[in-house]
Amino acid sequence: MYRIAVIPGDGTGPEVVAEGLKVLEATAKKYKFEYETKGFDFSGARYLKTGKTVDDNDVAELKKYSAIYLGAVGHPDVKPGILEAGVLLKLRFALDQYINLRPVKLYNSAFCPLKDKNPEDIDFVVVRENSEGLYKGLGEFQNKGTKDEVAIQVSYNTRKGVERCIRCAFEFCRKRNKRKKLTLCGKTNVLTFAWDLWQRTFNEVAKDYPDIKTDYAHVDATTMWFVKNPEWFDVIVTDNMFGDIITDLGAMIQGGMGIAAGGNINPEGISMFEPIGGSAPKYTGQHVINPLAAICAVGMMLESLGEEKAGKAVENAVITVAQTKLKSLAAGKMGYSTEEVGDLVVKEIK
Ligand code: IPM
Ligand code: MN
Repeated sequence: MYRIAVIPGDGTGPEVVAEGLKVLEATAKKYKFEYETKGFDFSGARYLKTGKTVDDNDVAELKKYSAIYLGAVGHPDVKPGILEAGVLLKLRFALDQYINLRPVKLYNSAFCPLKDKNPEDIDFVVVRENSEGLYKGLGEFQNKGTKDEVAIQVSYNTRKGVERCIRCAFEFCRKRNKRKKLTLCGKTNVLTFAWDLWQRTFNEVAKDYPDIKTDYAHVDATTMWFVKNPEWFDVIVTDNMFGDIITDLGAMIQGGMGIAAGGNINPEGISMFEPIGGSAPKYTGQHVINPLAAICAVGMMLESLGEEKAGKAVENAVITVAQTKLKSLAAGKMGYSTEEVGDLVVKEIK
């Protein structure tokens, strides 16, 4: 019996989560597993009412669950940074979800903005470090508000943190068993402390994985290759900030935010799955947002729970719908409403 904590969140989060849960229900029937869900209202609306985000009691409660399914955080009336730090980053850090796994997979050439690229060319995974780096929030102001102001923002990288992330990336690359190539994406030519540690650790860990080819690309060059030669990549490992940036570009080459999902993974604990797009306030309540990313997140969640067949079935259903039904993956242009797209996926699963 799986216990799924559901955080619909803000904006279109609840709409896409509803479709994901519909697909989860159909999948559970077909693949015969049992689960229960409980909703948690960690949202901008709740923050505006109560001033609360996620506290340590909430975290303790969430630890009783098998996985977390998240819609989106972000509210137009809440100052940027509060919900991000108070909900999303709080959960990632407090639950030590130190890997952010973001598959970049093109399901239909028609949805790719790149010329002459096909599904076999765009099929890689970014393993983003999810607990350190610039996201650690270390730094300070000096002489704040004066003409001599200095703002310092520190990238914090521990040997243990870097090594566990790199090790996971090698393991994942081996398990994925495709091209068996792991690319370290960094900036060794300028950020000579952080990326020296990353490079040394990468080289050392690589010795334990002689079956995996290794490669290095600077982050700026990586963005160029994403556009020019995405077929070069199999698995990419990078730090928190670079991972954040390159996975938005990754989402675009796979067809847009409407299809991009990710997992915040604690391999030894509780993981959280989410569509990587935001709360899209302007589409809220219009029934036009694409739920496929949220549905893909359900697929990833099932795989991580050990329901690999069910997870694959969800992905395959999404592929079929994306290939044979939708006119576009963009909000308002799919040719179907949010609910209809959910129904199409459910029909494929049955
Ligand atoms: C993401 C988002 C978050 C991040 C924000 C909302 C804090 O952009 O999941 O990629 O920067 O990690
Ligand atoms: Mn991001």
